[in-house]
Amino acid sequence: MNILVIGSGGREHAIIWALKKSAKCGKIFASPGNGGTGDLAENVLIPINNPEEIVAFCAENEVGLVVIGPEAPLVNGLVDQLVKANIPTFGPSEKAARLEGSKEFTKQICDKYNLPTAAYEAFTNADKACAYIDKMGAPIVVKADGLAAGKGVVVAQTTDEAKEAARDMLLNNKFGDAGSSIVVEECMFGEEISVFALSDGKDVIYFGSAQDHKAVGEGDTGPNTGGMGTYSPAPIMTDSLQKQIMEETIIPAIKGMKGDGTPYTGVLFAGFMVTDKGPRLLEFNVRFGDPETQVLMARLDSDLLDLLYTAATGNLAGKEVRMKDEAALCVVMAANGYPNDYEKGSQINSLKDAEGLEDVIIFHAGTRKDKQGNIVANGGRVLGVTALGQSVKQAQTTAYKAVETIDWPEGFCRKDIGWRAVS
Ligand code: AMP
Ligand code: GLY
Repeated sequence: MNILVIGSGGREHAIIWALKKSAKCGKIFASPGNGGTGDLAENVLIPINNPEEIVAFCAENEVGLVVIGPEAPLVNGLVDQLVKANIPTFGPSEKAARLEGSKEFTKQICDKYNLPTAAYEAFTNADKACAYIDKMGAPIVVKADGLAAGKGVVVAQTTDEAKEAARDMLLNNKFGDAGSSIVVEECMFGEEISVFALSDGKDVIYFGSAQDHKAVGEGDTGPNTGGMGTYSPAPIMTDSLQKQIMEETIIPAIKGMKGDGTPYTGVLFAGFMVTDKGPRLLEFNVRFGDPETQVLMARLDSDLLDLLYTAATGNLAGKEVRMKDEAALCVVMAANGYPNDYEKGSQINSLKDAEGLEDVIIFHAGTRKDKQGNIVANGGRVLGVTALGQSVKQAQTTAYKAVETIDWPEGFCRKDIGWRAVS
């Protein structure tokens, strides 16, 4: 079967790498792809906002499955357009993608189906939001309702900081439409965990867990990023915690969406705070995480194509996700300056040497191949240096050995990915 994967990140490279192992996998197209996907797939450029062109491409190239990586096309309803044209597509419909597209919608689903989460109120009026913040006190969390590229959440330590964030969003248009309505919620404390589950709209199966490192600096300091590194499995994920999360949150959410006439198809990525009262939902995402996918795919021992296709076509019942017993850890190498301004175009050398190390997989994110075939940086997060090991510690040692091997003075990484799991 030929497959079209939409996206250009490390997540998409990891998905393509895993799809490629399937005996049923034919040709893969990546749109737009990156310098790494080009070795496994044909990179093509189909305008994301032009569903007709995507449909025509699929017909011409006998594409039997489309996999959509990032959230924006999902929230904008690309799946609906492709499904209407009878193209099996992995990802939720526009209505189901509101689970990521609107924080208030998710909170309403939590209320309706009793999913454990932080107490909250939603506002479009800044004075009312500020009055609520004063009433609740700090610390308190202010969230833009819509998509804000991971920057729309402020965990405020003082009520002044929270009120400023609320005003920035509601009055000063800081996130445009995404901030024209906000959620103000209770601050929770504990360790964070990312949980992934596949659904075909009816059935749901657990995919795996991971922990991310959102801050740019060591010791979780500095501004937040898309994610600077991950490991899987999350050592805090016990069998009983997994059961609790599935039974209290994931399964009721999938059942509720089906009952509401907006069945959820695709991967549901749920972020939790594991508090002393139990796991509490922080957010839903309607796609695989980046860089969580890099470690999940490194560990996956099942046929990804079979899983994604059966999820897309309503036949997930009876399927299971097997993971290797080994741990995986991914260190993100980013361009100097990221998440602020950074330069593109610097050359990255010795990648082949790093790739040649045992248990190492290099997933590309913001890279491209220049005319001479050299890999050059083409984005903020550039490489996901991933390793398998008998423990998170061993995977960490191997991943950093690979990082040392890569010759790229214009890039940096956090030196402490995995610290929670190894200390
Ligand atoms: P979100 O995009 O909603 O997951 O928020 C981004 C990050 O903000 C999370 O990964 C948490 O670190 C933090 N966060 C969000 N909501 C809360 C909360 N209610 N209490 C504490 N931290 C939070
Ligand atoms: N790494 C976090 C995310 O993909 O949203």
